Amino acid sequence: MSQQTNWNLRRFVQTLTYFDVIPFLSKLPGVKPMILGNQTATVNPTVTPRTGTILVAGATGGVGKRVVKRLQQQNYPVRALVRSIERARSILGEDLEFYEGDITIADSLKPELMDDVTAMICCTGTRIEPVEGDTPDRQKYYQGVTYYEPEVAESTPEAVEYKGINNLVQLASNYIKDASYQPIFDFRQASDDTKAIWGALDDVVMGGVSASGFSIEENKGVFSGNVSTENNGGFASIRTRNFDPPLNLSGYEGIYLRVKGDGNRYKFFLRFDTRWDGIGYAYSFDTQKDSWIDVYVPFSQLKPVFRAKLVEDAPPINESQIYSMQLMLSKFEYNKELNPYFQPGAFRLEIEQIQAYGGAKTPQLIMISSAGVTRPSRSDLDLSQEPPAVQMNDQLGGILDWKLAGENCIRNSGLRYTIIRPCALTEETESQGLRFDQGDTLKGQVSRDTIASLCLELLNTPDAAHKTFEVSKTDEEVNSPQSWRQQVSQLQPDS
Ligand SMILES: NC(=O)c1ccc[n+]([C@@H]2O[C@H](COP(=O)([O-])OP(=O)(O)OC[C@H]3O[C@@H](n4cnc5c(N)ncnc54)[C@H](OP(=O)(O)O)[C@@H]3O)[C@@H](O)[C@H]2O)c1
Repeated sequence: MSQQTNWNLRRFVQTLTYFDVIPFLSKLPGVKPMILGNQTATVNPTVTPRTGTILVAGATGGVGKRVVKRLQQQNYPVRALVRSIERARSILGEDLEFYEGDITIADSLKPELMDDVTAMICCTGTRIEPVEGDTPDRQKYYQGVTYYEPEVAESTPEAVEYKGINNLVQLASNYIKDASYQPIFDFRQASDDTKAIWGALDDVVMGGVSASGFSIEENKGVFSGNVSTENNGGFASIRTRNFDPPLNLSGYEGIYLRVKGDGNRYKFFLRFDTRWDGIGYAYSFDTQKDSWIDVYVPFSQLKPVFRAKLVEDAPPINESQIYSMQLMLSKFEYNKELNPYFQPGAFRLEIEQIQAYGGAKTPQLIMISSAGVTRPSRSDLDLSQEPPAVQMNDQLGGILDWKLAGENCIRNSGLRYTIIRPCALTEETESQGLRFDQGDTLKGQVSRDTIASLCLELLNTPDAAHKTFEVSKTDEEVNSPQSWRQQVSQLQPDS
C-alpha cells in the first residue's frame, strides 16, 4: 500500500467539521460534492471558560446599570446584587446573573454571593425622594444645580451607607477570590462542556497520518495518540474551538499549565483572532517522563508563527482577546529547526489544569462614595457656599457622615480598595474629561456615564489600590480613559 493511501479523508472531514471550517472544503477540487452531499456544517455551541466574576452592588441604580452594561460589553462575567430580581430584569434584561439581597440585612448576603468573585463595584446609595406633595414645578434640585425638598425614603443612611457597606466588606474580606491566579480549565472537575471544547487537530489537514485525541481520565485531561512523519507530516495537536466571547486575561502575566508528560518537547499556542489558519503564538516546553511539572508561559515570550515559521511583523499579542488554545507535539521547532527530542510513535501528555497567572494587584472593591463626605464637620468651610448635598446633610439623616463611616470600614478592611467621590451626578451622555483631586474640596458635576467608564478603567489599574479621591468633569479638554489611569497613579495612597 502506498503511503498516500493511508491518509484518512474521514478524519480530515471530522477535523474541519469540528472546528467549523467546512466552507474551506469547497476550495478543494473534487472534494466538495463528495463531502457536502448530505452533510452540513454543524453549528457548534458557543463556549468559553470563565474568568473571575465582577459583582456589582446597586446594579439597578443610575451608575450601577451603566457599570453592568460596560462590563458585559467587555466580556466580564457579571453578577448583579439587587433587591428585586423581577424589577432588575426589567432594567437590566434577562442575560445577566442576579443575586437577590438587601445590603442592610446581613442574613440576605450568603457566601454564595461571592462565588468566583474577584472584584466588587459598589454603587449602592440611600434612596432619596422629594418630600410628599413636592411637584416638578417646585423642583429646585436638579443634577446638583437647583434643589427640591428631598427626604430619605425606606432605609436610613446609617443602615445603607454604613451598616450595609460593613456587611459587604465583611463578606468580601472572607470570600473574595485571589485574582492573581485565574482558573481557566480545571480538568480535576471537568464537565462534558469542557471536554467538548477541545478537539484533535493533526497533520491530516496537510496530508499526514498522525492521529491524536483528547479525553478526560480520572481527574485529568489527556492528549495522546500517535505521531508520524509519513506523507511529510509530523505533528499532532489538540485545540479549543473558538471561545465566544473571547477570553479577557488583561492584567495577567501568562498561562500556567500543570502537566505530566513523557519527556517530549511540546508547544502551547494562543490565538488572538478567530481565523482557522492564521497566526498562532507559541511557546515550547520540555516535559519529564511521568513527573508532574509546572509550566509558566509568559505572554511576553510567545512567538508568532504561521505553520511553524516565525512571522516577522506579526500583530502584537492581545491578551484581552484570546480566542483559542492549542497543545502540540511537532517534529519541527521554528523555521527549519527540528524538535531535539522528537520521536515518532505513541505519546501522552496529561493536563491537570490551565490557569492565568501573575494577575496584577488590582482593586478588589471599588466604591462610589461622594464628594463632600468630610465637609459637614469641617470648621474651615463656609457651609452656605457648599453644594446642596452638604447643606442638607442633617435634613437627610447625616447621609454624608454615614458615607464617611462606610468609607472608613473599607479603608480598614485589608481589601485592596478604591474609593471614588464624585461631585454632583448628571445624566449627560457626551464624553467627558475628568479632574481628580484629594482633600475633599472639589466642586462641580460629572456624569453617571463617565463614572461608570472610570470604574471599568480602575478594575485594571493596580495603582488605584488604597486610594480615595474626588472627581468632577473638566472642560479643559476631553482626556481619555487611558490618561485617567495615569492621573490616578499620581494620586497619594491613603495613610
Ligand atoms: N446624586 C448625586 O448627585 C450624587 C453625587 C455624588 C455621589 N452620589 C452617590 O453615588 C452613588 C450612585 O448614585 P446613583 O445615582 O447611581 O444612585 P441610585 O440611582 O439611587 O442607585 C442606588 C442603588 O442602590 C441600591 N440600594 C439602595 N438600598 C439598597 C439596599 N438596602 N440593598 C441593596 N441595594 C440597595 C438601589 O437599589 P433599588 O433599585 O432596589 O432601589 C440602587 O440600585 C450613590 O451612593 C450616591 O449617593 C450621588
